This record gives sequence, structure tokens and C-alpha cells, in this order.
Amino acid sequence: MNKKRKILVTSALPYANGDIHLGHLVEYLQTDFWVRFQKMRGHDCHYMCADDTHGTPIMISARDRGITPEALIAECHDRHFNDFKNFKIEFDNYYTTNSPENRELSSEIFLAMKEKGHIEERTISQLYCAHDRMFLPDRFVTGVCPSCGAEGQYGDSCDVCSATYSPSDLKDAACVICGKKPELKESVHLFFKLNNFRDFLKGWVRDHASRETANKLEEWLSEDLRDWDISRDAPYFGFEIPGYKDKFFYVWVDAPIGYISATKNWCDKNGRDYKEFWKADDAELYHFIGKDIVYFHTLFWPAMLHNAGYKTPDSVFVHGFLTVNGEKMSKSKGTFIKARTYLDHLSPAYLRYYYACKLNATIDDVDLSFDDFVTRVNSELIGKITNIASRSIQMLKKLELKTGVLSDDGKELVQKAQERSESIARHYEDRNFSKAIKEVRELAEDANRYIDHHEPWKHVASDPEKVRSILTALINVFRIITVYLKPVLPAYAADVEELLNSGVLTWNSVNEVLENHVVKPYKHLLNRIEKESCDAIIESEVKAAASANNANKTSAPSIADTISFDDFAKVDLRVAEVINAEDVEGADKLLKLTIWLGGDDRRTIFAGIKKYYSPEQIKGRLIAVVANLAPRKMKFGLSEGMLLAASAEDKSTVLLLAPDSGAKPGQKIS
Ligand code: MSP
Ligand code: ZN
Repeated sequence: MNKKRKILVTSALPYANGDIHLGHLVEYLQTDFWVRFQKMRGHDCHYMCADDTHGTPIMISARDRGITPEALIAECHDRHFNDFKNFKIEFDNYYTTNSPENRELSSEIFLAMKEKGHIEERTISQLYCAHDRMFLPDRFVTGVCPSCGAEGQYGDSCDVCSATYSPSDLKDAACVICGKKPELKESVHLFFKLNNFRDFLKGWVRDHASRETANKLEEWLSEDLRDWDISRDAPYFGFEIPGYKDKFFYVWVDAPIGYISATKNWCDKNGRDYKEFWKADDAELYHFIGKDIVYFHTLFWPAMLHNAGYKTPDSVFVHGFLTVNGEKMSKSKGTFIKARTYLDHLSPAYLRYYYACKLNATIDDVDLSFDDFVTRVNSELIGKITNIASRSIQMLKKLELKTGVLSDDGKELVQKAQERSESIARHYEDRNFSKAIKEVRELAEDANRYIDHHEPWKHVASDPEKVRSILTALINVFRIITVYLKPVLPAYAADVEELLNSGVLTWNSVNEVLENHVVKPYKHLLNRIEKESCDAIIESEVKAAASANNANKTSAPSIADTISFDDFAKVDLRVAEVINAEDVEGADKLLKLTIWLGGDDRRTIFAGIKKYYSPEQIKGRLIAVVANLAPRKMKFGLSEGMLLAASAEDKSTVLLLAPDSGAKPGQKIS
């Protein structure tokens, strides 16, 4: 074994205002595989994580529920911790960013920025809601996109045309909390002068980022880096900035510092010093993150660490996003699956195995296809792998459960399995989990061929010692396979350890052979997955989404102010027939409709309904439109009216008139 390494590993800190879902688990599971592997290899490796507890959304969620932010994050911490624990994700510390250690370290790291002249105060003007008495973050403002005119867009970018802008550019802006019109107001903010670190970062990226990530970073680094606004005004749930009354650290300042505080908190309890991980050259530091938060981890974070005299990450391991059955997770389709819902129906081992089969060290998205999931678990993990143990140990029961000695071809089989040790270890080290599993599968196939070739069941009575020797080979190969699977399937491996009665398996266990050794009677390791369980998961999420929607409806105080009858009379609502519908190149949400309003009144309208309707589904249908809306110039052309639809956050249903309603294009609706 090589020299003992000192390794600190983190996963991104989940926000403390929502449940863990299967997307998150792509990250926490792969980190767990990697850490367990390092520990099995005998390294001094520790896995740190925490809840990310600060910021406006958490403050508002707590307020909506009528509880304090502290109560909300405590509740969330319990839920997250239990979900992780039940998925066998084993942190050395699962802490919180709302901790005394984090307050102190945030202040220290900020003061280091300030002392070295990297902080600048500047007055900026920002949207402010006088009713809620707070400045509004981008996602707390909605309005009409300044570029394409789509309604209901957030303050940072448009979902329909993808334009980016600042919240004050939105037309008809409204506060998301109270619906009132915000005003512009000035305030002093603190900026971190990131560009002062550009040269340092160029060097860091060269040595510490994967090729894939480095390309993106080099693009960012080829231009001057923008200053980073690190302060937020009260009210804000977070840490007050030392020396600045009513100014708070933006959540992304103290969140990564949470990695250090979690380490410090653990070290203080375990007789170690956090500096041996964060300020020592002989330690290795790795962050696992998703592709959406690369900027924070590869620019701001190394700069902050470097400036304050901490070591910078040896690498940042970036992964892609989860898709389910080939599509983005969706609440209404029931594919936005919470960890808890999964656990209510299925064993965590299946998902751990499946993700391992799918993960490699790239930022490609990872697809959970339920058919593939069921096949892989049932035919590989159970049919190929687990079957080796169930067949051989059950047969060995007839021979007092005692192994014998290996025959020549048995030795060969076992040796072949042993020889894979370093190659599989390399795959784990490189986070190429799919390759590690592939090798395991090949070993299982060899073992199955060995069984079929020898047909031991035929010779139990006639030649028991020969059979004992065959089973000895199989049980040893199975034991080696279990070693290789242990980082992915820790609970399964623990059951196997119990069955084989030969102690705790470490990576080195592959070098031992169990001969003349008594094992325990076979106990079932894993059941097959029933497809119905997967359907039940989806069903349960669909139900949850529907009832959340209903709850929103009944409590929504979002009915607009009343209007006079005269105002209403100004709206010319008409029946129209969709005579043509087509996709719009470059706009993934829009359909271009040609509608007929009777006579020779034909018009073009653009509607953001592509996600819900194909052109065929809407062609020929009667719809309701606002006929006298002033035409609007959109990026893709002129829109000359608007159709009526019932829209919720992730669903939109166009009001369609029944074909047999007798309604005629051009008819007035009142
Ligand atoms: N709180 C920040 C991270 C702060 S780290 C100092 C955050 N939280 S998160 O809850 O939104 O995401 C946590 C991690 O899960 C991120 O790395 C994110 O990329 C990952 N994922 C969240 N949804 C995901 C998928 N659907 N698929 C794969 N990973 C996903 O970001
Ligand atoms: Zn408001």
C-alpha cells in the first residue's frame, strides 16, 4: 500500500429550505463512494458537509410559515440528516453554516480581504419594496421581459427568450412577496475586487481544474473579472459584516466557509487541528459540486482562500445534472423525486448501484431511466452478482458450510479476480465508477461461467469434495467482488461480512483466500425490484405536486386589485381558430400560431406553450384570445394578440373551446 494520504472531501452544502431529491443524490452518493473507497484503502480521509442556511429565500420561507429562520433550519437539518443517513451517506460531520465557528471564520476571511485592500464600498441603486421594507433579490421581482415582452419573468433572465438583464429593466415589475410595485433605492454595498486575483487564478486553474472545466474557466479568465457584491442589506438572515451596521454577508460568502467550519467543529471534538487540513501542504482538499456552481468554487473561493492564507482546493470535481427518463425532473410529471419518497418504496442499495453504473468523471448529465434501472438491478446486481453467493452458499449447506481448498482452475479464477484490484482502484480514484462496476460485472460473468461449466449441483452426492472445492472458488470470488463493491454498497457488504464470517473487508482483503473456513447459512441479501414500486414513487410525487398546487390556490392572496366594468369592457375577448402552429427556431418554449378571427382577420401570435402542446395538438382548435392587445415586437417577430391559458409555475393549459360548442371564430366572449 502506498503512503497514507490526508484527504479532506466536501459535497456542496444543500440549501436549508427544501428536501433532498434524487438530483442532489447524484452528488452526495458519488462523494460517498469516493470517500468510502479512500477509507477502505487506509487513508486519513474525512467527508465534511453542512446545511447552507442563510439568505433571503430561507428568511421568507420561515416568515411564510410563521416560524423563525432558526426553527426552519433546525427542522431542515434533521430532515436532510435523516435522508442522507438512510441512503448510507456517511459524513464525518454534517454541520450548519449558522454556527459560531462559521461566524468567526467568515469574519476572519473578510477582514483579510479588507486589510489587503480588496474590498471597495460603492453606492448602487436596487429595487426596494416599500411595503415589505426590503431590497429585492433578482428572484423576488417579476415582470415583463424587456427583450421579448413575455410576462411573469424573474428579475435576472427571461425563461422564454433567455435574455439576461437587471431587475430594474423589467417592465411592470412587481414584488414577488406582496405583488406591489418596487421602487429604486440607493444603498452602499461592499465589493470584492476579484480581478486582483486574475493572475493567481489563471495559475490555479492550470494546475487544478479538469480539462473540461478549465476550458470554461479560461474563457472567463480571458477577460477582466467583475467585482463581486458581497453585502446585503437588512433584513437578511445571515452574519452581520464586522464594522458595518445592518450589512450582512451575502450567503455565498459564508457558505463555502462552512466547509472550513464543519472541519473545525469536527476537529475540536476529535482532538485534531483544522489547520492540518486547511493550512498544511501535506493535506489534499477536494470539492464535489454540480455544474451550476462552478463560478463560485473555482473563482471566488480559491481567491478568498488564497488571500486569507488557506490552502486552495487540489481539485474541484464537477458533475452534471440528473434527468429522469431522459427529461429534466418535473414536479407535475412526478419525476422530481424526493429522497424520502424513494426510500418509502425502495432500498437505497438499488439507487447507489445504479448511479455507480452511470457515473464517470465528466460533467455530462446523468439519466435515471426507470426501465434501465430495473433491468440493471434485477439482471446484474441480483441475477449475476448476488446469485453467485446464493447458489454457492446454499449448496455448501449440504457440505456443513465448510469451504475446502482451491483446485487449479479455482485458483486461476480467484487470481483473475485479485489481479483486477489495482485497475478497479484506479477507476475509483478517478471517479470512473461506471468502469469499476463494469469490471466487477465481468468478474461475476466469469464466475457464472465457471458454475455452468462445472455444474456442481450434479455432483454433490457423487463427489462432494470436488463440489466443495468448486464452491470454495466461487465463495472467494464473491468475497473479492464484495470488496470491490463495498464503497458503493456498504450495507450489502456488511451483510456479506456477516455471512462469510471472516471479519471486516478492506481493500487488502482481496489478497486473502478463505480455505477450510466455515461460513454462515445463507440469508437473503437483496430482493428484485418490482416495476410497480417505481410507478408508485412517481404516482406519489404526482399526488404531492397536485396537492401542493391546490394548497397554493386556496391560500393565494394573488387576486389582483378590482377593476371597473368599464375597464373590463375594454378587453376584447374573441373566439379564434388556430389555423397553423409551428415551432420557432431558437426558442424552446414558444409556438408560433396563426389564428383566424373570422372574415379576413388572420394574425400571428407567439405563445409560451411548446412544453405542453405540440403543433398538432393545437392546430384546428378553437381558443380564446385578447383581440385588441397592442401588437408587441418580440425577438422572433410581431405578436398580434394573446391567448388565454391557465398557468401555474410548471404547467400551462390553454383554454380550448369544445369543437362541438358551436362557437365561431370572431365571436365575442363576455
Ligand atoms: N447551497 C448551494 C451550495 C453551496 S456550497 C458552498 C447549492 N445548494 S443546492 O441545494 O441547490 O445544491 C446542492 C448540490 O446539489 C449542488 O452541487 C448542485 O449542483 C447539486 N444538485 C442540485 N440539483 C441537482 C440535480 N438535479 N442534478 C445533479 N445535481 C444537482 O447549490
Ligand atoms: Zn413587497
